[in-house]
Amino acid sequence: MLKDLISQYINEIRAARVEDFQDKAAEIEKFRVRFLGRKGVMNELFEQFKALPGVQKKEMGIALNELKNAAMAKVEEFKAFVEEKMDADVRHDLTLPAELAGRGSRHVLSVTMNEIAEIFARIGFTVVESVEIEDDWHLFSALNFPPDHPARDMQDTFFVEKEEGKQEVALRTHTSSVQVRVMETHKPPIRIIAPGRVFRNEAISARAHCIFHQVEALYVDKHVTFADLKQTLLYFAKEMFGEQTQIRLRPSYFPFTEPSAEMDISCNICGGKGCNICKGTGWLEILGCGMVDPNVLEACGIDSKEYTGFALGMGVERMAMLKYQIRDLRLYFENDLRFLHQFDNII
Ligand code: DAH
Repeated sequence: MLKDLISQYINEIRAARVEDFQDKAAEIEKFRVRFLGRKGVMNELFEQFKALPGVQKKEMGIALNELKNAAMAKVEEFKAFVEEKMDADVRHDLTLPAELAGRGSRHVLSVTMNEIAEIFARIGFTVVESVEIEDDWHLFSALNFPPDHPARDMQDTFFVEKEEGKQEVALRTHTSSVQVRVMETHKPPIRIIAPGRVFRNEAISARAHCIFHQVEALYVDKHVTFADLKQTLLYFAKEMFGEQTQIRLRPSYFPFTEPSAEMDISCNICGGKGCNICKGTGWLEILGCGMVDPNVLEACGIDSKEYTGFALGMGVERMAMLKYQIRDLRLYFENDLRFLHQFDNII
């Protein structure tokens, strides 16, 4: 009887175990051809089915379908078993060479920031870190910014809170705010550097970024003079860029220093002869500085008749650019390993 034959085959299929096969791939294929191949069981039974009288067709059709599904499902099951086993064999192959874990290294900005901190540490400056979200007082007012200064404008500053009648809160636009925090809470002598992240509302390009790093230095004591500032700057420039480095100061303006200056160093690429990095001038601008404005000392509770001080601030990205000849600011933040690995050995 056709019906008995079909259920016999179904039982046989369901009982088949791939574990019993020797050459699994070949035997699976043989199994498939036997049931589902052109001259296989399925087609042979189908020929018999076609000859059945109409009344029996429905029942036999259902049975045949069941047989076909059972055969197809079994072949799939066999294949899945073999694939999984192959994966496991590869995973557990103890003779395969180990995957090397890549060795990490410090980011060039961290290295540069540490180097600046160490140079200042050798002459008695200690590192202070402070908040990145600042209020108007520490960011602008205590630093003698006039009320209409452009830095107080949305265009330059990311405000966190800017409401009529409330103190404004913003992401700090410079690390000079740390000066204020230290002077408010410490009595001179003060000799600190403040490294950290700063934020400005700038379109990102090769020369500007909305996040960058600064190091601020502050020295307040009795009898601190501009001569102290100059010697400190010269010492720093030589330590950072080499013994042959020369400096020059140009008068400038910052609300929190009086007098203010910008410092250039002799171009460390061409040695001052003029090249495309220094745009033919032989000089590179590297930082802003000056004598702390008496208004700032007073705003922070320090008697400006008794104490004087100097401050300076520099961009870490720029320092690293000049030192390692990096042409595009965006490279610092893209985490392209080809860029990062160039600095593996600078520690
Ligand atoms: N805060 C200034 C800036 O972000 C940098 C600066 C200039 C800091 C002069 C100072 C300074 O301490 O004296 O551009």
